[in-house]
Amino acid sequence: MNRREFLVGSAASVSAGVAERKGFAKGVAVASLPPFPRDFLFGAATSCVQIEGAAWEDGKGESIWDCFAEKPGAIIDGSNPSLACDSYHQWSLDLALVKEMGLQSYRFSIAWPRILPIGRGQVNERGVDHYNKIIDALLSAGIQPLVTAYHWDLPQVLQDKGGWPNRDTAERFADYVQILAKRFGDRVVRWCLLNEPSAFTIFAYGFGGHAPGIRDRGQMLRAIHTSNLAQGAAFRAMKAIRPHSKVGIAHAMQLYDPATSSETDRQACERFHAFNNLWFLDPAFTGEYPDAFVNGVPYEEMGWKPGDEQRVRATLDFSGMNFYGDVQLVAAGAGKFMNEAELLNGIDAHVTRRQRNTAAAMERVSLWMATRYSRPVEITETGFGGHDVLTPKGKVHDQTRIIWLSDAFSGIRRAQLKGAKIVSAHVWSLIDDWEWQGGFRIHMGLAWVDFMNPIQRIPKDSARWYGNLVRSRSLTPTHR
Ligand code: FCB
Repeated sequence: MNRREFLVGSAASVSAGVAERKGFAKGVAVASLPPFPRDFLFGAATSCVQIEGAAWEDGKGESIWDCFAEKPGAIIDGSNPSLACDSYHQWSLDLALVKEMGLQSYRFSIAWPRILPIGRGQVNERGVDHYNKIIDALLSAGIQPLVTAYHWDLPQVLQDKGGWPNRDTAERFADYVQILAKRFGDRVVRWCLLNEPSAFTIFAYGFGGHAPGIRDRGQMLRAIHTSNLAQGAAFRAMKAIRPHSKVGIAHAMQLYDPATSSETDRQACERFHAFNNLWFLDPAFTGEYPDAFVNGVPYEEMGWKPGDEQRVRATLDFSGMNFYGDVQLVAAGAGKFMNEAELLNGIDAHVTRRQRNTAAAMERVSLWMATRYSRPVEITETGFGGHDVLTPKGKVHDQTRIIWLSDAFSGIRRAQLKGAKIVSAHVWSLIDDWEWQGGFRIHMGLAWVDFMNPIQRIPKDSARWYGNLVRSRSLTPTHR
């Protein structure tokens, strides 16, 4: 499944009929689940490109998304992130919502080009001031920040020098993270270095669906390796300055099952899993890439150098996962991989279909994550994309999202009861936002935003539901 399919598939299920609802309704007997532990953090998440706007203000440099959005056809609705939710100016409305729901954690990202407009060199103090205000306001309200250092907005100047396929970007990223450690690390303890490296490497440089929109197998492979080098270098940079920080990743986590019991499908599924998951997690812990390609790991094409087995290592403090549901079935197929044979020929596998059971998938995936890396798990994102409607009375009745979230949280609770140390969960998203190449067509927020005039956040029914969950710490049966 590519990202466009993911967004559209997720949205399509809002209006889907009885069959789809039955899938959700498979759900769970939530009434029997004990409350969430007292120290479990309920949160919500956003990212700077998707909400901030002010793309050209206060010294911010151009990011690859500012540029990419200008390409005809790149964004479904022709929109761009220059205004989005105007959170650069309206951030106190966002935090008011966080407080209203009683959340204990807020995950947001820092814009690299706001801190370093050309990716390196002189720090833009106005950018630093902006994030200082948010961090201080969160802490004074007793809300823990979880800060993402990179949520896909590479400074365009660095892309002009080759972007993620250029090994040097790893060093630039570590220098940037060192600045974050110095300027914010006295107050911010929890850091996600990278958000979904699989998306900003495979999807961005392999399939061209994300900025910078490149379709090239070699660039994709080098970008993957640079992202792992960047994580290792940035981890060491942060720890050198803030040894007590808690540093992890936000990985796009999905598990797969073989489409049939045949040996070829089983092996194809294993390679698919290795490429999409393990390649972004294992190197940090083991210094190695497990086999994903039929003919072994293409080290040369990836730009591997002697000593990299040490450079990619990072003993991450937590495993962060973004979860959007379902198990996918993978089959061996003659050179087929997400219908992009020419790019990835060698993995020889493709997704055949999805199985909808959010609760079971969440339980299984988070148990896998907790067990494989023996780290506390932070659910860095989970949420539901739909086409929401604001009623004339100013309400948004997003019952399908409530059902989805209820299933997702019951999956988390069940995994905890089976021993997984899951310490937090962040709903994506706090507010409706600019969904990358999906533009403004997909609503994912707990609150409605009018993108023509983003001066208000209107809590949806799901925000009230979530507030009740946060306060009671208990899931109650949901009307399906
Ligand atoms: C994730 C991204 C996040 C958001 C959700 C819907 O892959 O990390 O920014 O777009 O998808």
